[in-house]
Amino acid sequence: MNNRTLLGFHYVLGILAFCFLAPHNSSGAASEPLAWDAESKQYTVKTNETHGHLFFSVTNVSNSEVIIENVTTSCDCTAATLPSKPWKLAPKQDGKIEVVVDVRGKTGTLTKQVSITSPTAPKMLSVSVTIPPGVFGGGITPAMGDRLRNQESSAGDRQAVFKADCARCHLAPAFGKFGGQLYKAACAICHDSPHRATMVPDLHKLNKETNAEYWKEWITHGKTNTLMPGFIMTEGGPLDQQQIDSLVDYMLITFNNPTNSTPSIKPAGKKP
Ligand code: HEC
Ligand code: HEC
Repeated sequence: MNNRTLLGFHYVLGILAFCFLAPHNSSGAASEPLAWDAESKQYTVKTNETHGHLFFSVTNVSNSEVIIENVTTSCDCTAATLPSKPWKLAPKQDGKIEVVVDVRGKTGTLTKQVSITSPTAPKMLSVSVTIPPGVFGGGITPAMGDRLRNQESSAGDRQAVFKADCARCHLAPAFGKFGGQLYKAACAICHDSPHRATMVPDLHKLNKETNAEYWKEWITHGKTNTLMPGFIMTEGGPLDQQQIDSLVDYMLITFNNPTNSTPSIKPAGKKP
């Protein structure tokens, strides 16, 4: 028998089955046309993953075609995709629905509903995604989930980095330090981190002229609407004027400054 006759055969069977069985369908769970491999799925996010991927397998165990019209989820952070829309499952046909949960900025366990719309086989599924603390490596590097949350809270308030739980890494280490030690404690955490976000510039490779005013201004006030905080105490930062002056001196000596270093390393295209 070729596929076509097989399909046709099942189709006829399906219609027959529908005519005879349909009125009794509501009476038992055993007659559900779709068999799902599970009603809920769990996934644990791994290092550097920003999304949890889950799959539900489904088989049409009935003798008639089942149409899945749509799939919706309980959260903007979760997307579910059908192989096609509408998705028509012939008798005995199986397939997969992919569910993707965006875990950026999230921690703990997220549970989301996935709702299958179908005239004959509606279904409510659920997914649960766990973002374990510390999956992004030990040491002082915060978990990625934490870090993105950190970036979010900094985007709203760039001084947040000196408050609450952030203070133990971003504020306290600066206390009582000056010059190079202060740079290591207060600045290197962001600027010299191998894991730093792309918007954090490498201060060793600034393609511009720098001077005392430049360093002083950036360290004191940072920049509004960016993640660079202002470090002066009066703006909620950890540093007093004496500390800032010592840091400015250190930056002038240690970081490449075209205005007072050898002309040969001046970037091309700059004024002579
Ligand atoms: C356990 C120490 C630790 C804590 C707590 C911490 N941070 Fe960080 N933060 C770091 C490190 C280390 C980096 C450098 C990037 C990296 O290595 O992940 C960083 C980088 C950043 C950056 C630069 C952007 C980036 O991701 O590179 C911002 C903004 C930031 N942190 C804000 C915060 C805020 C806001 C809080 C509190 C809600 C906070 N941090 C809590 C250690 C910490
Ligand atoms: C919380 C992370 C974080 C910390 C801590 C931090 N910075 Fe920044 N810094 C940034 C980010 C993000 C920017 C980019 C701002 C922008 O988008 O323009 C930046 C920009 C700068 C710039 C401007 C670079 C340019 O493009 O001209 C200077 C200078 C600078 N930082 C110096 C420092 C110094 C010195 C310290 C220590 C006192 C420090 N930063 C601490 C995140 C940080």
